[in-house]
Amino acid sequence: MKPPKITLKEFARRRHRLMQAMGKEAIAVIPAATESLRNRDVEYPFRQDSDFLYLTGFPEPDAFAVLVPGREAGQYVLFCRDRDPDMETWNGRRAGPDGAVSDYGADCAFPIGDIGEILPGLMENRNTLCAPFGHSEAMDQRLFGWVNQVRAKARSGVRAPCEFVALEHHLHEQRLFKQPGELRMMRHAAAISTGAHVRAMQACRPGMAEYEVEAELLHEFRRHGTEPAYHSIVGGGENGCILHYIENRSVLREGDLLLIDAGCEYGGYASDITRSFPVSGRFSAAQREVYEVVLEAQAAAIAKVVPGNHWNDPHDAAVGVITRGLKALGVLKGRPADLVRKEAYKPYYMHRTGHWLGLDVHDVGDYRIGDAWRLLEPGMVMTVEPGLYFGPQAKASKRFRGIGIRIEDDVALTRAGHEILSGNCPKTVAEIEDCMAGNAPARAGAA
Ligand code: GLY
Ligand code: MN
Ligand code: MN
Repeated sequence: MKPPKITLKEFARRRHRLMQAMGKEAIAVIPAATESLRNRDVEYPFRQDSDFLYLTGFPEPDAFAVLVPGREAGQYVLFCRDRDPDMETWNGRRAGPDGAVSDYGADCAFPIGDIGEILPGLMENRNTLCAPFGHSEAMDQRLFGWVNQVRAKARSGVRAPCEFVALEHHLHEQRLFKQPGELRMMRHAAAISTGAHVRAMQACRPGMAEYEVEAELLHEFRRHGTEPAYHSIVGGGENGCILHYIENRSVLREGDLLLIDAGCEYGGYASDITRSFPVSGRFSAAQREVYEVVLEAQAAAIAKVVPGNHWNDPHDAAVGVITRGLKALGVLKGRPADLVRKEAYKPYYMHRTGHWLGLDVHDVGDYRIGDAWRLLEPGMVMTVEPGLYFGPQAKASKRFRGIGIRIEDDVALTRAGHEILSGNCPKTVAEIEDCMAGNAPARAGAA
């Protein structure tokens, strides 16, 4: 099967929808990401800005997309780096303005060096400027510098934009709702990540370093041409209780659990999966008791991921199960309703149950509308990731110390309910133990 991709038509539809939302008196200016230095002469791998990527699919830095609704000579203008044989010999190929038109669907394109001369002209007599204001002082200065160039022509009867609208106001609501083509991308990303988790489970042995298991994940990501959507968390024992643990340097010990939170990014789309499993392939009694609580909490939360429920319903469901579970484990005492009200679970479950997922791992989109949690609707994609953590200081029986468990899946809302994009990744105690014994689950991994 051919790997999915976003077509030029889909990019054009996105721009069209944004222009409709902006109105025909507006102009949008969307900058590409800039390259950033890691250390002397070494750059971080370039990652395109997600808004820019969503609207253009154009993969290069030093570019601006400009959307000018109704402009007869072309509504979609792209400024980008010119072709340059010397620079391309050193640093790689460039599309150039001609390639921007022929390969990326721009109506017209100009060298980035000409933007100061051309862009103010495009802004003339437009009422509203939509742009990512307030993210970078340097970018704000450039944007208002171009506006001021238009203002300077006021005496010749030219009007400059006088309304300034944050691009995200229109765009992030649009990005929150995934189109079928985007869901295909996200399914593919989740399938690759599922294969990576299975590979890690099957490679894991006591005595390995956490980074050796991380290497198994990376192998699977890269084998499919993807990269991590975020730094992989590979934490054995107590390290699994450090929520953002990315050192991945300790040696894995027999009898400990290993928590892996890792997902690849495919065509810009993130997956975000967590599994927690025993280093030696068999859960201890204490680990299993805690695991079953988190698993039940996740099932209860996922059951609430249906259209018409609100954003916080899955979290409330997870908190209820976790609290009752902590009581059953003898960690908390009292009436569950009181314990929930007093947030007694928080020392053991201190994060929320999920976030939107898309081009950004913590994707854009509002969680509240006014004072109320927003309602869930088809097309939204979210993670569901409850956990329980008994670090070295945890007030709990010694048998639970060093147990850190999180179970995270990627869930898309459908009209009928939901689809678990990462649903083939082993998750029950039996599935995990079976997988670690060398039996690869059917349908795990990307085609
Ligand atoms: N991996 C980031 C998160 O789970 O939110
Ligand atoms: Mn997550
Ligand atoms: Mn995660």
